[in-house]
Amino acid sequence: MSLPSKVMLVDVGPRDGLQNEKQPVPADVKIELVHRLQSAGLKRIEVTSYVSPKWVPQMADNAQVMAGIERRDDVTYSVLTPNLKGFEGALASKADEVVVFGAASEAFSQRNINCSIAESIERFAPVVEQARAAGMTVRGAISCAVGCPYEGDIAPERVALVARLMKQIGVHHVGVADTIGVGTPAKVQRAMAAALEHYDLADVSGHFHDTYGQALANTLASLELGVWQYDTSVAGLGGCPYAKGATGNVASEDVVYMLHGMGIDTGIDLDALIDAGAYISQHLGRPTQSRAAKALLNKRVVA
Ligand code: HMG
Ligand code: MG
Repeated sequence: MSLPSKVMLVDVGPRDGLQNEKQPVPADVKIELVHRLQSAGLKRIEVTSYVSPKWVPQMADNAQVMAGIERRDDVTYSVLTPNLKGFEGALASKADEVVVFGAASEAFSQRNINCSIAESIERFAPVVEQARAAGMTVRGAISCAVGCPYEGDIAPERVALVARLMKQIGVHHVGVADTIGVGTPAKVQRAMAAALEHYDLADVSGHFHDTYGQALANTLASLELGVWQYDTSVAGLGGCPYAKGATGNVASEDVVYMLHGMGIDTGIDLDALIDAGAYISQHLGRPTQSRAAKALLNKRVVA
């Protein structure tokens, strides 16, 4: 078994992490979170979504947040764009990368973006075309890649199908997403392998919610396949408004702690990342979901 020696993390905390918050989080707090993440060494940050503010009110300040960030040349700032209207917003905000988000489950596609899988691909096609023409990279999220809150288990063939359709319209990279965190390692490996039928190893990532406590195990199982890119969320924030009961993504701090412990390089300063997590947790008025951050913060108090 040869594991990757380096891993690239995309912190999706500002987007996936905060989209589900009921209380408005001020734009300046979101901006400060992005600043802290980039200071901690994150090179890829998913900042916000250009979606309907009626569907996801928390992301209504997308343009304000994007405008407020002091950008670094070596950081890629990505945003979600479900359709051309969203893409126009992303373009105006000078995002580096856009994310189209589809699903391996018909029912989730309908609930999340109000259209079938086939219709979603039709909507994404012009977004991908225009993004590529503008020199942006395009990632595609494949939600419910192992299980769906409405349909139950999802077969790997469904993941392969969506990956194939995304490849056909020119999406550069796909993220295999366990939206509701039900996956276990062998199932996640099968979903990953399905995406890898159509995309190279360098163009596939994992996005694991931790609802059932499986996300670190699923990350390790994916590392065993050679997958070296993961979406994680600072302080374990997150959830999708259209996947009730699903908790946050695997905490960035926990993944960094595991990887560094295995001698795998991330380029991230764990202490600074823990500080970023403490900042947003304090603002939200609840403890961090990261076990590693909790343990290391306790150690700081004792020291
Ligand atoms: P729709 O109602 O079918 O869209 O929604 P429409 O084209 O018929 O337009 C209806 C209204 O929305 C119009 O406004 C449009 O202007 C407006 P009105 O005339 O009623 O005032 N509209 C928009 N406004 C702003 N930005 C836009 C936009 N598009 C239309 N881009 C739509 C379709 C996709 C817009 C809607 O379903 C939506 O916004 N869904 C958002 C879903 C979402 O953000 N979910 C969470 C993110 S995905 C996720 O968390 C999963 C992920 O983490 C991976 C994983 O874990 O699985 C990525
Ligand atoms: Mg998610």
